[in-house]
Amino acid sequence: MTPRRGTRVALLADLREAASSCRECPLGARATQTVWGEGPVNSPLMLVGEQPGDREDLAGRPFVGPAGTLLDRALERLGWTRERLYVTNAVKHFKYELRGKRRMHKSPGQLELLACHHWLEGEIEAVRPQAAVALGSTAARALMGRPVKVLSERGRWLVREDGLRVLVTLHPSALLRGDPASRERDFEAWLADLEQATAAASSAEASPAPTKAAARSRSRSGPDGARSPKPPPGT
Ligand code: URA
Repeated sequence: MTPRRGTRVALLADLREAASSCRECPLGARATQTVWGEGPVNSPLMLVGEQPGDREDLAGRPFVGPAGTLLDRALERLGWTRERLYVTNAVKHFKYELRGKRRMHKSPGQLELLACHHWLEGEIEAVRPQAAVALGSTAARALMGRPVKVLSERGRWLVREDGLRVLVTLHPSALLRGDPASRERDFEAWLADLEQATAAASSAEASPAPTKAAARSRSRSGPDGARSPKPPPGT
């Protein structure tokens, strides 16, 4: 039976609530808040970033800073809006070091990535996207469960054991930090990567036939389509 949307909405809400007080690694105690994913529960496409930055930490929403602005620009060119996507991060808390009063981004380590992993998998369970995009190496590692060389794998589809297809590409921050002389060319190449993912998601959305993702969710679901998430920490 097709999983009921309401069940998935409830699952996502429960996970979000549980993650709001997560202390499974030290990052939660230093961050302003947990930055959970955003988007419709039946979104055909999930975009996964690394971790919230300073702006996201304060706003409590993913990709609202400069990287998010670039992402929005790309989506607009592709005729997509954020509202159709589920956007999240591999790590749900901002990791930083203080330099004076400034909070400088620090990449999450393997332990933080592992501690956060079940939250991302919970989001995938609830949203059941047709495809995912890994924005950068941290996201690719979290989604694939192994290190991924983004520069050599970018623009390629990888397939997870559960059948979810993952397109690997650069993180928007890499483009922002890149050589200004090639910025527009780099942006166009990034757009070409993302277009593969939006095209795949659009055609899956338009196709009435059972999709691989639907088959995957059926094979992993109980009779009513509900799957039990990992219990919240401390329960
Ligand atoms: N970078 C990310 O990886 N995620 C965000 O939410 C913002 C910036």
